[in-house]
Amino acid sequence: MKQNIINIAYLVSGIMFIYGLKRLQSPATARKGNQLAAIGMLVAVVATLFFKELLTPIQMLMGVVVGAGIGLYLAKKVEMTGMPELVAAFNGFGGIGSALVAGAEIARFMAHNAADTGGDEFTAISAVTISLSILIGMITFTGSFVAFGKLSERISGNPISFLGMRFITIVFLVAAVGATVWMGMENVTFQEINADAMLYGAIVVAVSGAFLGILLVIPIGGADMPVVVALLNSYSGLAAAATGFVLNNNALIISGALVGASGLILTNIMCVAMNRSLLNVLIGGFGGDGGDAAAGGGVSTAGMTVNSTSADDVAILLSYANKVIFIPGYGMAVAQAQHAVRELGEELAKKGVIVKYAVHPVAGRMPGHMNVLLAEANVPYDQLFEMDEINAEFETTDVAVVIGANDVVNPAARHDKASPIYGMPILNADKAGTSIVLKRSMRPGYAGIDNELFYNSNNQMLFGDAKESIAAVTNEVKQL
Ligand code: TAP
Repeated sequence: MKQNIINIAYLVSGIMFIYGLKRLQSPATARKGNQLAAIGMLVAVVATLFFKELLTPIQMLMGVVVGAGIGLYLAKKVEMTGMPELVAAFNGFGGIGSALVAGAEIARFMAHNAADTGGDEFTAISAVTISLSILIGMITFTGSFVAFGKLSERISGNPISFLGMRFITIVFLVAAVGATVWMGMENVTFQEINADAMLYGAIVVAVSGAFLGILLVIPIGGADMPVVVALLNSYSGLAAAATGFVLNNNALIISGALVGASGLILTNIMCVAMNRSLLNVLIGGFGGDGGDAAAGGGVSTAGMTVNSTSADDVAILLSYANKVIFIPGYGMAVAQAQHAVRELGEELAKKGVIVKYAVHPVAGRMPGHMNVLLAEANVPYDQLFEMDEINAEFETTDVAVVIGANDVVNPAARHDKASPIYGMPILNADKAGTSIVLKRSMRPGYAGIDNELFYNSNNQMLFGDAKESIAAVTNEVKQL
């Protein structure tokens, strides 16, 4: 009876996870989807703790207070631009959690041996799933914290490699696989755990997994970390699913599989949107700390000139336009200009200008980055358009305003086969009557390359922090 209630609760939480994920597909329903999935998790946690009677109510309460406290503190403290590193840290905690639970299972079976009470059997399959849970969990743990270090610039964002690195990686891989096979073989004929094999095997697997996580992530450039975080997110799901098999826990298996699959799908979406293969991301060493081709406003590294403009001129251009498309990018997130942009949009709409927002799938530094910011600033959802929906409209648009975006509007992606972004679909800002680019300097973006758009005769650069520039333009617009 008790087991039935637990299984029903797990089924309910699984359904809530799936519906929650489905609702994340659109900005309009994403918030609700998140809440639904969180309630699903609460149902699963409560069912596990109450019905399995693993802990006393006081212990449970302590866990809830500590866990919720840390989560709340971090979520409140983190800047929007720091979101990828927060996700990396959470993945890392998920990984170590899975590894520790698997370790605890070994301890439980060892205690059971000592007490010789009979009951659960320990088989080769138990040994292998425990090993996988520890291995994937430890890879996720150290890999995620290296990603965290690179994103938060505590570790150099440059790809790091050294002589013999591949060989050492293979040695750890062989050690982990060898130890797993040994743990399985040593438990084939036992109904009870072979404690020595499990203990020493688990230590070898844990140490190998820890080094593998580091060795797999350090050669990847800092700029590719968001993709790596999505991949590690998928690993953390696999580790949780493996732990689900260890504990015979359906909720963990379902949620782990969902995280594993959705992380992989997300990784794929990011790679496709950047027109790069996952292999290229993992071994390409693309993008370090970002280029430092800083040049004074008005002159590029190549010595070509650009047109600089002023807030007053931009205000006039926008106020007398029929249609304006805003293109937000990573710089809007850095400047936290989203509220200012929404206000400018409203002022223009009051003047009868048609205002739209074009969102590139990899603008910013994490999936949905721009959608989250614009939703936070209460930009109406019906003004937001995905790249495919809006690209054809640029030709009939008077002004495209590029707010801290760079790579996602670089025409080189269309024709320059030597460019690292060649083949990446871009927003057609260059096809608008006039394009205005708001950024602080001529420094490149994520891909570390110059942008052809800036040198077009119908392009104007408004240099400065995006938030300050937009505020200045809005002030002028109000006075016109
Ligand atoms: P980027 O190409 O990275 O360009 C951002 C621009 O913002 C920079 O050129 C920078 O120029 C400007 N900027 C920074 N701070 C600013 C501020 N305070 N005010 C005004 N401008 C500011 O950004 P993007 O166009 O959004 O492209 C995203 C890139 O990230 C793509 O290459 C994409 O492949 C990559 N990427 C994205 C993701 C996801 S999932 N979104 C994941 C991995 C990689 P200044 O320094 O001159 O101001």
